[in-house]
Amino acid sequence: MPDKDLEICYNNCIEYSNKIKNPILRDCVLEIYNDYKDRLLKVPATPGRHHYFKGGLLYHLYSVTRNSYTISTLYPNLNIDVDLLIFGSLLHDIGKALEYNSFTTDDNYISVKGNERDLLGHTYKSTHIVDNYLSKYELDDNFKNQVLHIIGSHMRDFGEEGALVKPKMIETIIISYSDNIDNYLEPASKAIDRVTRGEQYEFPKGEIPYYKSLNPYYEERKDK
Ligand SMILES: [Fe+2]
Ligand SMILES: [Fe+2]
Repeated sequence: MPDKDLEICYNNCIEYSNKIKNPILRDCVLEIYNDYKDRLLKVPATPGRHHYFKGGLLYHLYSVTRNSYTISTLYPNLNIDVDLLIFGSLLHDIGKALEYNSFTTDDNYISVKGNERDLLGHTYKSTHIVDNYLSKYELDDNFKNQVLHIIGSHMRDFGEEGALVKPKMIETIIISYSDNIDNYLEPASKAIDRVTRGEQYEFPKGEIPYYKSLNPYYEERKDK
């Protein structure tokens, strides 16, 4: 992705941040995005899974926020806290920003911090970063727990790279599904591009092959 597009993506994230009404949550996101800007414009999301390119993590955070926000507009009766939704979407994987420190080419990143990624994982790291930043602000303890819960439960299930706790708020359910959709469709778009009509393709780590459409009216985008 060209650098100018990544700058646009970063600015889109700032625009979403500015929709947050709670000034503490808004300031906290803006502060983290400001402090992490250089890294966000460079680091990928997850090797071998999704958004493995320069700025991939930033693009993923933007996509998940866009997905979550759109879902909130489709379900007005849910009474979703849009502040928590935007905050959690923009920061749910922020810990991944610390997983790489060398950016030589678009597809050559070097992992950092020894065993930190293996032993702590990105859910803990993300929650820890947000906790540290929030500690600078006067925030009700129970509300702060809710905010951290959104980050700590975004993976929805336990397991390797899983959630710290199971989701217990509707906002984190929406973030989690938005996250899954984006994690799935980004590598899918590459797999689909690689084959012609009617051919099989597989997503990374996929066990079941998928088929590209044979519909004669199916028109593929030419601008990719
Ligand atoms: Fe995650
Ligand atoms: Fe994610």
